[in-house]
Amino acid sequence: MIPTLTLAHGTPIPQLGFGTYKIDPADAERAVSIALELGHRHVDTAAMYGNERDVGRALAASGLPRDELFVTSKLDNPHHAPDAARAAFERSLDDLGLDVLDLYLIHWPLAATTDYVATWETLVELQHSGRVREVGVSNFQPAHLRAVIDATGVVPAVNQIEINPYLTQEPLRALHAERGIVTQAWSPLARGRVLDDPVVRRVADACGRTPSQVVLRWHLQRGDVVFPKSTHRERIAENLDVFGFELDAEAMASIDALNRDERSGSDPDVVELGRGR
Ligand SMILES: NC(=O)c1ccc[n+]([C@@H]2O[C@H](COP(=O)([O-])OP(=O)(O)OC[C@H]3O[C@@H](n4cnc5c(N)ncnc54)[C@H](OP(=O)(O)O)[C@@H]3O)[C@@H](O)[C@H]2O)c1
Repeated sequence: MIPTLTLAHGTPIPQLGFGTYKIDPADAERAVSIALELGHRHVDTAAMYGNERDVGRALAASGLPRDELFVTSKLDNPHHAPDAARAAFERSLDDLGLDVLDLYLIHWPLAATTDYVATWETLVELQHSGRVREVGVSNFQPAHLRAVIDATGVVPAVNQIEINPYLTQEPLRALHAERGIVTQAWSPLARGRVLDDPVVRRVADACGRTPSQVVLRWHLQRGDVVFPKSTHRERIAENLDVFGFELDAEAMASIDALNRDERSGSDPDVVELGRGR
């Protein structure tokens, strides 16, 4: 039911997944279990979210074969040094209860405080070890992307960046397309803020769908990977039900036009060690 895109080393990734940021560890096993029960096969988590063990419990309890699941985690900001990064990766695998991860990302570039190129080299080594199928980055700006590609010749499989109708990120998406990097859109609903937008509501009313469904449909038709977060069963179901309709060119353009380069989360240019969500 959920289409897949193909990452740099041939791994298929479901274009729609389930996000887990700000899901309390005490609630994460329940929420991820509902997502898997309703049909999700792609879960996005991070060491920073503090819920990998709970996500791992839900994956195990689902009884789903490992090759039907796609799991992403991310290297937390304090652990960029090579030995620390390798240890953090092992902790994430252990907490998730997995032998191999599908995708591992540098969560933030931390350009002011770390040599993020060296961090990228560590992730490439991890991929060569066979413990992770694909490696990528998150919150990288054009200069960061060019630096890691120029230094290593290895193109990140994905760049996971904030994208929603208020922050459409066209220049960065164009660079991704040029370099063969899959774009992942975090906070696809702008953490709920776009759902009351009058234009989004008008498009939703016109096609008999909800605001969340038309915004997710907009992302999917642009070709990006999305993973909305919700802890409510009915919203998780609503956010999954986005494959039975299409937005026409006019509806797509009216949502594109909402861009105002406005962030809901941290700014990658100013994020510091210990910060960035
Ligand atoms: N790489 C990074 O730096 C980074 C940063 C941020 C996020 N992420 C990833 O991206 C994922 C998604 O981003 P996000 O969690 O920040 O924001 P989001 O998915 O844009 O929005 C989540 C918010 O929208 C609400 N919501 C979800 N579906 C809804 C619906 N159908 N109707 C009404 N409200 C709805 C949720 O509330 P309820 O939960 O109460 O339903 C929650 O408050 C994260 O979970 C995480 O996996 C990555």
